[in-house]
Amino acid sequence: MIKLFGEYVKIDTPNTSLIIKKHEDRALMLYYGKKLNDHDDYGYFSKGKTDRRGASNDDWANIPSVMSSNGEVAQKTNYTNFHDENGLFTNRFNLVDAEIVEGFSSPLPTARKKAQICRLTYIDEVSKATLYQYYTVFDDCDVITVHSELVNTTGKTIFVNKLASCQLDFVGDKAQVVTFDGTWVDERNRHETDIVAGRFEIDSKLGLSSPVHNPFIMVKIRDNVIGLNLIWSGNHKEEVEISPYKRVRIITGLNDFAFNYKLNAGESLVSPEAVMVIANDEKTITSNLHKFSLNHIVNPDFAYKDRPVLINNWEGTYFNFTGEKILQMATVAKKVGIEMFVLDDGWFGKRDDDRSGLGDWYDNEKKTGGLKKLADNIKALGLKFGLWVEPEMISRDSDLFRAHPEYAMAIPGVEPVERRWQLAIDMCNDEVCNYLADTLIKIFKEVGVDYVKWDHNRAFSDVYSSKLENQGEYHYKYYVNQYKLLDKITKACPDVLFESCASGGCRYDLGMQYFMPQNWGSDNTNAYDRLFIQEGTLVAYPQSTMGAHVAASHSNPKICLESRFNVASVGAFGYEYDITKSPKEELSTIKKQVAYYKKHRRLFQYGNYYKLGDGLEKTNYGGWILVSDKKDEAIAVVVNKNLGFVATREHFAFAGLDDNTLYSVIMRPQDNLRETYDFTAYGDALNSFGLDFGSLDWAEADEIENSGAFRSRMFYIKKIGKANNK
Ligand code: GLA
Repeated sequence: MIKLFGEYVKIDTPNTSLIIKKHEDRALMLYYGKKLNDHDDYGYFSKGKTDRRGASNDDWANIPSVMSSNGEVAQKTNYTNFHDENGLFTNRFNLVDAEIVEGFSSPLPTARKKAQICRLTYIDEVSKATLYQYYTVFDDCDVITVHSELVNTTGKTIFVNKLASCQLDFVGDKAQVVTFDGTWVDERNRHETDIVAGRFEIDSKLGLSSPVHNPFIMVKIRDNVIGLNLIWSGNHKEEVEISPYKRVRIITGLNDFAFNYKLNAGESLVSPEAVMVIANDEKTITSNLHKFSLNHIVNPDFAYKDRPVLINNWEGTYFNFTGEKILQMATVAKKVGIEMFVLDDGWFGKRDDDRSGLGDWYDNEKKTGGLKKLADNIKALGLKFGLWVEPEMISRDSDLFRAHPEYAMAIPGVEPVERRWQLAIDMCNDEVCNYLADTLIKIFKEVGVDYVKWDHNRAFSDVYSSKLENQGEYHYKYYVNQYKLLDKITKACPDVLFESCASGGCRYDLGMQYFMPQNWGSDNTNAYDRLFIQEGTLVAYPQSTMGAHVAASHSNPKICLESRFNVASVGAFGYEYDITKSPKEELSTIKKQVAYYKKHRRLFQYGNYYKLGDGLEKTNYGGWILVSDKKDEAIAVVVNKNLGFVATREHFAFAGLDDNTLYSVIMRPQDNLRETYDFTAYGDALNSFGLDFGSLDWAEADEIENSGAFRSRMFYIKKIGKANNK
């Protein structure tokens, strides 16, 4: 609920309040935290001087605010930065209006099902440019989104170098920033950095949100945790700065790196929506962000839909397959209960390795034996059919490149840098986008695909488009067009489930999630490494959005099939190896796993996720629990990651269960274990630390698990009664 009264803007969600005050010409940020009672005066939150005239540095420039310009006498990083043709950089925005509006327009995806929107209007007293900030409320998840629109009302051309989405200023002299960083095959590792002075920043300069730093961050200030994310897939930047005046400034949004956006008179530029949520604990941040994704980002036709158990041939065959081999894999898959076959890279153009073919999105009949026929045969087995594509890329050795070298992202006269032997496509060229839309929709429809894995396997280097007058707009306009293309294709194929992929999880963000309900978690399918990648991912993104597959064990010691299942089950689940080579006993185990997953699919995919303990990054034990809305059933996986032969004795606590409900806890029988472990207990005990899962502490009798790898067990927890003593 947004309330405008006196000089105040009070933006309430059911459990939080953001209070902004228009004071003289500033938009003061008085408060963001747990919900406050309505009152006609909150002036006591800010007693500093706000009048620019005669003020000293420690008041005017350091008053907490939600928007800052660079013409303030402040050292701090600020919200927007632009200049005119004469290089005049000074701008000083005054808040002139606050009103409730019906909507706004943006060329970028913005959260669905908006409730109320409040618009703050600022005018630059130097250039006369107009800046709007839009705050939107999402009650079901305590989220507020915010973004900006800079309108060139100056009458002259201006060049925008920075336009952020969200600014929050808190009073404080220290903060902890939690970031999710990594590399290809090692995405979203959690890091916690304490800052007491200066500016901490992370960003992406790679043209995609990247594995290096995910746009999701958390900032802990006193007993508040603030979660921030962006509905955006390109270069981004997150800054947290502590000023000597005891202020913590947080700014998130587009990266200003290589950003120089020309705005002619009358034109405007819209920044991506930033998502913000505040709570006293991280658990609430996670639960609210999961709800926000499913209710306001993911395509509602898929948001709560069952995800099929799939098999993907990539790690099973790589490029080396024939239609016949694929059909054999599908036949075995069907026998063990798998529901969909996904044909990965290598089915199109001339593509027997990663050096050619990208861009030629037509059937390599010699290899597939006829893609349509293959898909039909797979469907005749009773499986759905999925297909891999990598539309935003082009191989030099491709028909498309030979016919249209100008489709590649490359600077005329300069030898472009290649990655994985490929060039990126110039998405700022509408002609390429039309070509891609036509070709892809045609093949998806002809073949009748049920699922598309949309890959993106390189970062940008030679950023240039012959279609742009001003190359400083490239990083923004790439995504305006990319989103347009995704919108067109997903609307033309409304029944197709799309999975985003970028060398695994290198573009895992809310922008992609808006069009593609799933994201391949990581090219690293090693179950031990996945524990950490997944734990990092699930802090902000729901498990149904995260592709997780059981692959062959690549590690030494080998990780047993049952633990590989336990780890992959917390996601959009599947298998990814050549199961035609699996011995009978292995197929029998897989069959049981698939049946178990299907039986509890709703919990696996849509149960409320809680991380157990302090997390596997920090402690020896951990795992997760997925609890139904009614708290009448749950699935938990507990992990002892100690790799030694004799592990230390670990104890556990579940989470999220109802304290006064009596549950039965039933261990999923594992084919590599002799014993099972079942007991009953009340939720209050199960939620308390101290549960002893004995067998997890010792190497198992069974040879497969007795290998020194980590140990894991899965439990099904079901309500059997209510307490009567409370
Ligand atoms: C990327 C993906 C993989 C696979 C290969 C195919 O690396 O992340 O899952 O699709 O491309 O080339």
